[in-house]
Amino acid sequence: MIEVKPETANDWWEVEALFDLCFAPGREALSSYRLRDDVDPVKEFSLVARDELGILAGAIRFWPVHVGDHDSLLLGPVAVHPTHQGEGLGGFLIQEGLEAAANHGWKRVMLVGDAPYYNRFGFERLTGVEMPPPTNPDRVLGNALQQGAWEGVEGIVTRWSA
Ligand SMILES: CC(C)(COP(=O)(O)OP(=O)(O)OC[C@H]1O[C@@H](n2cnc3c(N)ncnc32)[C@H](O)[C@@H]1OP(=O)(O)O)[C@@H](O)C(=O)NCCC(=O)NCCS
Repeated sequence: MIEVKPETANDWWEVEALFDLCFAPGREALSSYRLRDDVDPVKEFSLVARDELGILAGAIRFWPVHVGDHDSLLLGPVAVHPTHQGEGLGGFLIQEGLEAAANHGWKRVMLVGDAPYYNRFGFERLTGVEMPPPTNPDRVLGNALQQGAWEGVEGIVTRWSA
């Protein structure tokens, strides 16, 4: 049995350890991390999944960003512990997160990731949306939480300023 809850401050370092385990060393050197510096993830739909013993099985975070003059969420990191991969947990966390984001009024979500995985959740390549270099443009994907939400949205992705 897996329980999914919003991440709290007490979860932070355990989630970081899970990400360190699941991603290649140096993940924080990626340009997308510069968009997260000194900005908190959105608490309501950054989620942790724990098994019946309370052991962390998966986690997902969302950050607010600007795309040109528009607001968007940046999905990621998302990771599932190797002992739980392939059980549908990653997909569940992504879908729960997207649904919560839509319920909170967010219109669009973007990420940098593998299209063959994220296509199934409705993510498609974004044209005209520029992540800080170096980023492979084929990996810049978007999901419209409201119909047409990415139409006409272009520009450089920048760090959130309230
Ligand atoms: C990617 C990840 C979060 C998926 O979580 P998960 O719980 O294993 O995924 P699910 O069980 O929901 O889905 C499994 C399916 O996704 C596919 N999949 C997983 N990663 C994939 C990828 N990078 N590209 C294409 N397909 C992928 C699996 O082959 C499987 O396909 P199937 O349903 O046809 O058998 C997890 O594998 C993980 O933590 N990976 C390491 C960290 C990572 O790469 N995070 C994503 C950053 S882009």
